[in-house]
Parts: sequence; C-alpha cells; structure tokens
Amino acid sequence: MIDQSAIIQLGNPKLRQKAAWVENIQDEKIKTLIDDLIATVDQANGVGIAAPQVAESLRLFIVASRPNARYPDAPEMNPTAMINPQIISHSSEVVKGWEGCLSVPGIRGLVPRYQTITVEYMDRNGNLQTQELTGFVARIFQHEYDHLEGMVFLDRVESTEELMTEAEYQQRIVNQT
Ligand code: NI
Repeated sequence: MIDQSAIIQLGNPKLRQKAAWVENIQDEKIKTLIDDLIATVDQANGVGIAAPQVAESLRLFIVASRPNARYPDAPEMNPTAMINPQIISHSSEVVKGWEGCLSVPGIRGLVPRYQTITVEYMDRNGNLQTQELTGFVARIFQHEYDHLEGMVFLDRVESTEELMTEAEYQQRIVNQT
C-alpha cells in the first residue's frame, strides 16, 4: 500500500504535468499501481484519486464514490479503475458543487462541472467501457480527469469567495444538509 504521505500536494510540480497514456494495461506495475491507489483512496476517506497524485504521471485514476467522513452524501459504488479515460460528450447544463482534494488538504471550493458526461476508458482488464455519468460521480470523473491535464480544482473556482476551510465546510455545509 502507498503510504498516505506519498500523496503529493499543491506546489509539487509533478501535479502540474500532463500525464502520459498508459501503453500496456497488462503490465504488473500498472496492476500494482491500481491496487495501491484503491487502498490509498479508501484509507484517506477520498472518493477518487489520480495516478499523478502519487507522482506517477500516467493517465489512470480511481473513481470510488461512497459515503464517508469527508463526503457523507456520496453515492455507493465499487472502486473503479479508469485507464486512458476520455470525455466523449457532455450536457450543456453545468452545476456548481463543493469539492476537495487529497492534494489540497484543508480547503474546499465551489466548482462548476457538467451535470452529465459520456465517457470512455479502458478497465483494468483492458476492455473498453462507455458510460454515462451524472451528478456527483460525473463530478468526481471531471475532477480526476483534470489531474491528468495538470489541473487542480482551485483552477476552476470562479471566485476566492467560493473557497472555505475544511472546518468551516464541515460546520456550514455538511451540518446544514
Ligand atoms: Ni484531486
């Protein structure tokens, strides 16, 4: 398992690189990386993690929505590895929602994302998957996809007034819903 301290944080230039395509999905190193990322996101109470966040600049991330201490209202799903993911199409509707990031600890921001997206990715067995994602899971996908492009959610926040500390977020947003 990757030690949680292995998650790199804002300011590390590796978080700002455009990640490379995964050439060989069957490579043992890729399988190990996927298993490590799934264990790490679980341990960190995350709902997603991208390979660049552990300094592996590859186009691969985990979407693992489930209710936890950081996201009590998240829908439940099996952790899913998405390799060489792409957004094929998206709704015109954009919704703002609160996001955080394991690489930006202690800060939440209100981020506009497409409500619905159609995505393609290779699963861990090398099969091409096409899915329509909506709401919170679509938000996770778009957040993780940004990591592959060297972006973080702060880049998409429209005003610094739409930032909050984790403590204020827990008090004002989580406890209100
Ligand atoms: Ni993130």
